[in-house]
Amino acid sequence: RSHPVHLHQKHLDFSSLQEIPDSHKWTQLDDIEQQHPSVESFITESVPVIDLLDPNVLQNIGNACKTWGVLQVTNHGIPISLLESVEGVSRSLFSLPVQQKLKAARSPDGVSGYGVARISSFFSKLMWSEGFTIVGSPLEHFRQLWPQDYTKFCFLFSSFSNDQISTLYSDVIEEHEKEMQKLARRLTWLMLGSLGITKKDLNWAGPKGESKEGGAALQLNSYPACPDPDLAMGLAAHTDSTLLTILYQNNTSGLQVLKEGIGWVTVPPIPGGLVVNVGDLLHILSNGLYPSVLHRAVVNRTKHRLSIAYLYGPPSSVQISPIQKLVGPNHPPLYRPITWNEYLVAKAKHFNKALSSVRICA
Ligand code: SIN
Ligand code: FE2
Repeated sequence: RSHPVHLHQKHLDFSSLQEIPDSHKWTQLDDIEQQHPSVESFITESVPVIDLLDPNVLQNIGNACKTWGVLQVTNHGIPISLLESVEGVSRSLFSLPVQQKLKAARSPDGVSGYGVARISSFFSKLMWSEGFTIVGSPLEHFRQLWPQDYTKFCFLFSSFSNDQISTLYSDVIEEHEKEMQKLARRLTWLMLGSLGITKKDLNWAGPKGESKEGGAALQLNSYPACPDPDLAMGLAAHTDSTLLTILYQNNTSGLQVLKEGIGWVTVPPIPGGLVVNVGDLLHILSNGLYPSVLHRAVVNRTKHRLSIAYLYGPPSSVQISPIQKLVGPNHPPLYRPITWNEYLVAKAKHFNKALSSVRICA
């Protein structure tokens, strides 16, 4: 089903496009999920907003995860200034000329780097977006990105060298990673806690009993303004292959989630808020109690939209399977054990059918 997508400058140079080229023109047939209606936000329910300092936080999170598989959190403890700094790094990165960005292009079988949406290989049409994936330290990528005469692009840094800029920007990304890691762990335990699961129910300890850290990737997304948004797709419908994903969107909406029985519901950006969605692996852990929400990003006629997704997963050697406490005679395990890496392989092969591919057939 999947086909390789070669990186061509012309596919990523949106600023030069006055109209949608055929390569980027979507019809309903190109995306089965598009056939659901987009619903106006004022006539329907909306994604729950949860204050992490609320005394009822556990119950609220549990309800949101069961009914939506997605929520927005406030009072999450991540400084707004840090989120804005990452947005700033992202903005200056994407504003480089395409040729320059391609110097940090993601290699065909690699994960990190610049390029088209990673799910592009599953679709015959290209998406109206570009992305930059960061796993671990971005320093080497950043050194490739910023040209020696960067001052031409960023007047603010006229007295900095390429190396100083790379270090400065990497520090921001690393600080963000540290803070997000803490928040992601806290959210994981809240989500599982509301199902009555505690740390002793999960055997994620290392050989010496120490608890292992989860893994993560940072995904920077850029959706340029689009001359005809109805004919384009920012990011096609997918579920995340994570435990959970934490998304920051700048003040431009675009994220939509599919709500059973309703249709595509827009998740409006709220100041200082972060969107948290259940990923496929948390769906497996919860033995199907928490849906891994299908979501997509639509584009905008006038505004350039940026989003920053923190993709959080389990320690790589850990086998993910339905938690014993949630399994019983009336609740047989729905999925077989699988590590994060094995799941990513299944995803690369089956895409949105990956979950069914690891399902235990009754
Ligand atoms: C994503 O699903 O990775 C990003 C969605 C968005 O840009 O809102
Ligand atoms: Fe996603």
